[in-house]
Amino acid sequence: MWMRNLSNFQSDNRLELLTRRSAIGVISAGVGGSLTLPWSISDAFSATKPPFGVAVHLDPFRNEPIFRELLKKHAGLIVPMNALKWASLRHTEGKFDFGGADEIIDFAEANGQPIHGHALLWYHANPSWIDAVTSPQLLERLLNEHIETVVGRYAGRIATWDVVNEVVAHDPLTQGKWRKGVWHDILGPRHVEIAFAAAAKADPNCRLFINDYDLEDDSLRTEARQRAILQIVRRLQKKNIPIHGVGLQAHLYAERRTGRENLIKFVRELKTLGLEVAVTELDVIDWKLSADPVVRDRAVVATVKEFLDAITEAGPVRNITTWGLSDKYSWIKDVFPRDDSAIARPLPFDRDWNQKPLFDLIKKYTQ
Ligand code: G3I
Repeated sequence: MWMRNLSNFQSDNRLELLTRRSAIGVISAGVGGSLTLPWSISDAFSATKPPFGVAVHLDPFRNEPIFRELLKKHAGLIVPMNALKWASLRHTEGKFDFGGADEIIDFAEANGQPIHGHALLWYHANPSWIDAVTSPQLLERLLNEHIETVVGRYAGRIATWDVVNEVVAHDPLTQGKWRKGVWHDILGPRHVEIAFAAAAKADPNCRLFINDYDLEDDSLRTEARQRAILQIVRRLQKKNIPIHGVGLQAHLYAERRTGRENLIKFVRELKTLGLEVAVTELDVIDWKLSADPVVRDRAVVATVKEFLDAITEAGPVRNITTWGLSDKYSWIKDVFPRDDSAIARPLPFDRDWNQKPLFDLIKKYTQ
């Protein structure tokens, strides 16, 4: 099932990627249990620079001691990368498997690191029995029960949650506003409201986020995606359903530019609505760059700097989180394979856990 999901996921993304590339053109590559924390969760986020968050993949977490050492040393926030997804927690309907999630969360708590939960609703990474549900009443009950159980279990321990992930269509201009998938197809647009209301009920003190990708440039498609996010936020607020923030995944492309003015405008509009903004899945897709690692690292740094300069210009960011730490475990090499045999270099540490220029850059923006 995992393999099938992954291959569907890959082909979906490649297809979307190709559509997007032809729509906006390509700019030349090479540019540039409870516990007492040592500080309260709100204090951790109130300092001038945001914490450096790291998404934690279970394989290296279990098998590579150096990963744990680097997490202890550098991470100011921990995100279980896959362990809190439906596919990890809900192999069968009757049983929750919190084993992997607890391993990561216990580690973070032992190190005094706040935890961000990812994700309570996503069109992808669902167990097949959920994707097969066709009754709206049953699906709504299952969604409510899931959120009540998962958010309730970690209430007071997980500071922030991605309540919904990627609910906006890849291209709202041609596909309509909503991402297709079991949640939307069976429950309609209400799926977002159900999820946020359930999360707020399960942990009234948790900060609740909507998380999505491709919000950083100034293409018409991205502008449509930004508008869709703003509409969702306003609708929740109109219905008095709590939402506290928007996560910009920031899977950046080295061959694209940040739409600086557009991004600043979007972020300021969100702040005007009273929302926080977080960078949740930062990495750089380098598949179109030349193989030379020095050239690639320079381009990756330039790409991230341009983005972080823009987003921090718009005001404080809640956290800056990279989607993993080492290139060895990044999803990018699988979903965006290069034409040559060079290894993708999207993250702050290389395959051998050597620190890269991207790490030095991110440290300048974080604490
Ligand atoms: O845990 C199983 C393991 O038991 C099995 O042997 C192995 C065989 O391939 O698969 C393992 O599960 C994989 C899991 O990652 C953990 O490694 C799944 O197949 C694979 O589909 C899963 O991929 C993750 C993907 O989301 C789907 O959940 C990626 O690691 C993860 O980086 C990616 O993250 C997403 C964000 O959640 C949302 N935004 C985009 C981002 C990148 O795709």
